[in-house]
Amino acid sequence: MKKLSVNIDHVATLRQARGENEPDPVTAALVAEVAGAAGIVSHLREDRRHIQDSDVYLLRRMLKTKLDLEMAATEEIVNIALDVVPDLVTLVPEKRQELTTEGGLDVASQLSHFKSVTDKLHKKNILVSLFIDPVKEQIAASEKAGADFVELHTGEYANARGKKAVAELARLRKAAQAAYKIGLKVNAGHGLNYRNLKAVAMIDEIEEFSIGHSLIGHAVFVGLERAVKEMLEILKETEH
Ligand code: PXP
Repeated sequence: MKKLSVNIDHVATLRQARGENEPDPVTAALVAEVAGAAGIVSHLREDRRHIQDSDVYLLRRMLKTKLDLEMAATEEIVNIALDVVPDLVTLVPEKRQELTTEGGLDVASQLSHFKSVTDKLHKKNILVSLFIDPVKEQIAASEKAGADFVELHTGEYANARGKKAVAELARLRKAAQAAYKIGLKVNAGHGLNYRNLKAVAMIDEIEEFSIGHSLIGHAVFVGLERAVKEMLEILKETEH
């Protein structure tokens, strides 16, 4: 069955809104694991707007599944990753003003930078995923950079309607196949929810989905355990 990694950043967003200790993202991560998540994702942003350094260290100690640290490829954050040693680092572009990660990485035009960061992480046995738009040039560059995974940006698909959504889905399928063919493992995420996940989960080459906002939003109404289980049910429906 395809795997679900739960992004717990939004639990930290709620905590930071009050500057207190609750709700605790690490507790959320443990609940998500018990509910069946294959891993936990958290994004340590340069501005520390939600997840804090201490959360990442605690996640590393407490998780029984897998810690996927989402981060920009900057010196400060790379050094933290080398100290924390998550199971997987997902490198993403980061802009201070953005509400969320907006586009994929331009690996092709900064190949030597991404290769050197990937090499450093590999020396600590940390797997590396590059978050890219579903385009050929970036897939080829990710392979050249030595990445283990690409995470295909599903945001365009998630925002599209009608024929445009069908075209975006086809673009994701083609990209997943192209990446898989050259030996990259394929994850996907951004903007996925209870309505649009199923179609993209039918793409055989994608092994894992990274989902945060819609799942945590749903959890406000039904509880986190049920929200995770309902997302897993959708993945189960695509098994064949
Ligand atoms: N994958 C990446 C690389 C992301 O940056 C995000 C957003 O933090 C997600 C997945 C999850 O997106 P969403 O919160 O829309 O489910």
